[in-house]
Amino acid sequence: MLTLNTADLSPVQLQNYLQYAIAPRPICFASTVDADGQVNLSPFSFFNLFGSNPPMCVFSPARRVRDNTTKHTLENVLQVKECVINIVNYAMVQQTSLASTEYAKGVNEFEKAGFGMLESLTVKPPRVAEAPVQLECVVKEVIALGDQHGAGNLVLAEIKVIHIKEEILDADGKIDQAKIDLVARLGGDWYCRVTAENLFKVAKPLTTLGIGVDALPVSVRNSRVLTGNDLGMLGNVEQLPSGEEIDGMRWNTAVKDILDATIGDANNRERELHELAHQLLALGQVQDALKVVLL
Ligand SMILES: Cc1cc2nc3c(=O)[nH]c(=O)nc-3n(C[C@H](O)[C@H](O)[C@H](O)COP(=O)(O)O)c2cc1C
Repeated sequence: MLTLNTADLSPVQLQNYLQYAIAPRPICFASTVDADGQVNLSPFSFFNLFGSNPPMCVFSPARRVRDNTTKHTLENVLQVKECVINIVNYAMVQQTSLASTEYAKGVNEFEKAGFGMLESLTVKPPRVAEAPVQLECVVKEVIALGDQHGAGNLVLAEIKVIHIKEEILDADGKIDQAKIDLVARLGGDWYCRVTAENLFKVAKPLTTLGIGVDALPVSVRNSRVLTGNDLGMLGNVEQLPSGEEIDGMRWNTAVKDILDATIGDANNRERELHELAHQLLALGQVQDALKVVLL
């Protein structure tokens, strides 16, 4: 294991390790205005949602690692405490990157990057017409995390109005995770795209408390077949099945075939049962998988 003390690393090295490891990061495409009303548009991936009541986002226009200068976005939110956070989808990613160019103050990146400007309802900065979601925000506070190269500046932005393109909604009027086509930033020049093919679901832990991996028999915990993800699903059941329920599984065709084919061969029996359980878990059949490994 490579173990590094952050105090021994330069800001450039730190930025490199951390941005590759703390990824993917959502992108806040922030539009702001200065005291003269001049518009600025820049992307920030030091960004997330930090609470929903009040609905609060934070993003960080950091001091430049290169020369410790500050960014126009930071200067603008200190002058006019408003912003629009535009959400970036795949169709926008190249123009969004172009908007991160260090154009001189007063240059409108909407125009440079070729985005449409939409007037906001409650704040001065305009919205990006192409963005699937546009959040009108009031800046509550700006917190400087330091005064050296690479220091962050937290912009605490309270969301006041949410605009959502209808084309990304499902039949219930909620955002369809597969339709929004989000992109996120990783290390260096890497991005990722959230497509329907790479989405998957993880059932929330039971509010009634799962039994935990430590409640599974040692042979299951130390299985050479079952993965950490398999154990996580098995540990999320409310209780172990009864002896009767486990026995009932013997009549399942796949189980019966394994039991018949491995009489007197305990090692292969366990391996094959675990392989079957692994397949059942992949299909979301957690209860049956648990019975199989407990046979
Ligand atoms: C996708 C993406 C994410 C970025 N994230 C950040 C960030 O979180 N913080 C930051 O200081 N700069 C970030 N940058 C760089 C800024 O966008 C860039 O410095 C920009 O010129 C700042 O513009 P401004 O001076 O007009 O505010 C990012 C660039 C891109 C393309």
